[in-house]
Amino acid sequence: MKIEPCSPAECRHRLPELVGLLRDAVQHGASIGFTQPLAPGEAEDYWRGVAAALTGGDKRLLLALDADDRLLGSAQLALEQRSNGRHRAEVQKLLVWHKARRRGVGAALMAEIEHEAAAADRTLLFLDTSVGPGGAEAFYRRLGYQPAGGIPDYAADPDGQLRDNVIFYKRLPPRATAS
Ligand SMILES: CC(C)(COP(=O)(O)OP(=O)(O)OC[C@H]1O[C@@H](n2cnc3c(N)ncnc32)[C@H](O)[C@@H]1OP(=O)(O)O)[C@@H](O)C(=O)NCCC(=O)NCCS
Repeated sequence: MKIEPCSPAECRHRLPELVGLLRDAVQHGASIGFTQPLAPGEAEDYWRGVAAALTGGDKRLLLALDADDRLLGSAQLALEQRSNGRHRAEVQKLLVWHKARRRGVGAALMAEIEHEAAAADRTLLFLDTSVGPGGAEAFYRRLGYQPAGGIPDYAADPDGQLRDNVIFYKRLPPRATAS
C-alpha cells in the first residue's frame, strides 16, 4: 500500500473510483454529509468540487492505493487561510473501502495527513465525527485524538437517524527551524 497526494487532474481522472468509494461509505452507514439514496450525480458533483478546491492550495487530498494502483481510501486536509488560524487545519472525509477496513489503511492515511499538516506549519488538527456504530470515534481515540465535546443530534446518518457528533483535536509538535 502507498499513500500519495492527489492533484486536481488525477482527482478528475479517478472520478469513477472516488465516486465508488463515497457510495460504498454511504451504503455502509457512514455519516459523512450524505443521506440514502444519493441523488443522481451527487457523488460526482461532490468530487468535482473537491478537484476544484485542490487548485486553490488550501485543500489537500491524499489517496491510499494498493500494489495495482487501485483506490483503497482517501483523506482530505483543509488548511485554514484566515490570518488568526493559520496554525490549524481540519481533517475531512477520511474514507476507507468497507472491504479494506481494519488493515491499517485509515491509520496510514492519518499519519500522512499529520505529516502534510506539519509540513504546512500546522500545529493543531481538528475534526468532527459521528457517534455511532461505525467505529470512527474509537479509531480517532486510538490515534491519539482528544475529544473536545459534542453536539446532540448533530447530523442524520445515511438512514435518517439523528446522531450526536464528537469534535476531536490533536496538537502536532512545531517543526524544528534551522538556526
Ligand atoms: C474510520 C475508518 C476510516 C477506519 O479505517 P480503517 O482502515 O479500518 O482503520 P485502521 O485499520 O487503520 O484502524 C486502526 C485502529 O483504529 C481502531 N478502529 C478502527 N476501526 C474500528 C472499529 N470499527 N471499531 C473499533 N475500533 C476501530 C482500532 O484500534 C484499529 O486497530 P486494530 O485494527 O489493530 O484494532 C473506516 O472505518 C471508515 O472509512 N469508516 C467510514 C467513514 C468514516 O466514518 N470516516 C471517519 C469520519 S469522517
